[in-house]
Amino acid sequence: MNVHVPTFPLAGDDKTTADFQGLIRKIQRREAVIGVIGMGYVGLPLSDAFCSAGFRVIGFDLDDARLTSLNRGASYLSHFADARVAAMRDRGFSVTGAPDVLSRADAVLICVPTPITSHNAPDLSHVVEAAETLAAVLRPDQLVVLESTTFPGAATEVLKPILERSGLRAGVDFALAYSPEREDPGNQAFTTTSTPKIVGADSEVERRAACALYDAVTITVPVSDMRTAEAVKLTENVFRFVNIALVNELKVSFDALGIDIWEVIHAAQTKPFGYMPFFPGPGVGGHCIPVDPFYLAWRAKAEGAALKMVELAGEISQAMPRRVVDKTLRALAERGRSPIGVHVLIVGVAYKRNIDDTRETPARDIIEILRSHGARVSYHDPLAAELMVGDTLMQSVELGRDALAGFDCAIVVTDHDALDYERLARETPLVIDTRNAMAGVDPALAGKIVKA
Ligand SMILES: NC(=O)c1ccc[n+]([C@@H]2O[C@H](COP(=O)([O-])OP(=O)(O)OC[C@H]3O[C@@H](n4cnc5c(N)ncnc54)[C@H](O)[C@@H]3O)[C@@H](O)[C@H]2O)c1
Repeated sequence: MNVHVPTFPLAGDDKTTADFQGLIRKIQRREAVIGVIGMGYVGLPLSDAFCSAGFRVIGFDLDDARLTSLNRGASYLSHFADARVAAMRDRGFSVTGAPDVLSRADAVLICVPTPITSHNAPDLSHVVEAAETLAAVLRPDQLVVLESTTFPGAATEVLKPILERSGLRAGVDFALAYSPEREDPGNQAFTTTSTPKIVGADSEVERRAACALYDAVTITVPVSDMRTAEAVKLTENVFRFVNIALVNELKVSFDALGIDIWEVIHAAQTKPFGYMPFFPGPGVGGHCIPVDPFYLAWRAKAEGAALKMVELAGEISQAMPRRVVDKTLRALAERGRSPIGVHVLIVGVAYKRNIDDTRETPARDIIEILRSHGARVSYHDPLAAELMVGDTLMQSVELGRDALAGFDCAIVVTDHDALDYERLARETPLVIDTRNAMAGVDPALAGKIVKA
């Protein structure tokens, strides 16, 4: 693939004489070593992409269990097969918890978590810690790229000063860039290598070096600086966040009007232009969509430009689990059941289908609200064996023969493909369906199903 890097006006006073040509040549000859900090949902597939492109990759993480697993050739992500780890290791992939190894890397990509605090403010502690670790071993002519989602300005205002404590200067001694990860775990159609990569840097030479690197694995989309690249990522996630909230609000309104939202969406999506389907559910989950928009909202508010849409979408999404429980309690009451002592089965607790990630899953809120009404709650998820709810560790129950008969009600929170929805409707007295998962079951069972 040829590197196509347009020239942008330089952001600021660019007196650098560095051109990072040695680094770029190493990248183009596949002689560059790639260090990846954070072996999670983003870092592991990214490492795989660089291994497959012919680079030697070193993964760095603080989590001993993850390092041990990778050293055994085993994956800890359900959608990332052991065979992929084995193939990476055959290509020279290694992992370490020793930071000095990072000085051997020509490019270091930072893929650590960026959660929010209980007050919806950015928590950059992992980025800061990773930056401090890297600053202690940074050497000239390295390329450092932040991939974690951040607010516009974080790479320049937070990451860069920490790295420069090494005595080396960004744009002169080392190259610094921001390139947001667009990983969508479990998505078979679009992977790291088939998804274009946004690359922003604060000088032309740094952008060229970063584009050379990512051009080895996918198509690069250079933008004028790191702040713009950070804003691109947040725009993408705010777009999803607001549209999911919108469709959830429409669901509530259409429900009141006696209209099936799913039928509406399926019909609306036949329009070939100007409409893009989003689907309702029990709320939003994951490490990105319910979190990242608040990075932007926080930053915008600090500049006196509050993002009202994000705040409103947050309110609507947070209300969804309670609505699911309300519908469940109403359906039970119609069947003469009080919530006290009913045994409810939550079906699927991952935040989305066919993956094991339970971060920020609405299933937690649903379980806690049900318990507050006196219900007994169990869950089944073929991909998530355990779930922390408050300070209780729950374990997925097996659904062997006759097991479903013990439940008064099932709530489909996540529609994994591996679940048998026909059996669920046949063997459970009541199924609350938040995902339209029961659409294909025998119409004779429709009386047991309530859409929520
Ligand atoms: N999960 C997704 O689908 C996704 C998609 C796009 C972008 N992102 C963004 O990518 C970033 C990483 O997310 P993730 O889902 O891969 O997180 P993750 O929790 O799956 O993985 C992060 C890894 O970083 C390690 N880590 C934390 N601090 C460290 C440190 N100081 N030094 C070394 N290792 C450290 C953790 O042990 C963990 O293994 C976040 O900013 C997230 O918003 C995530």
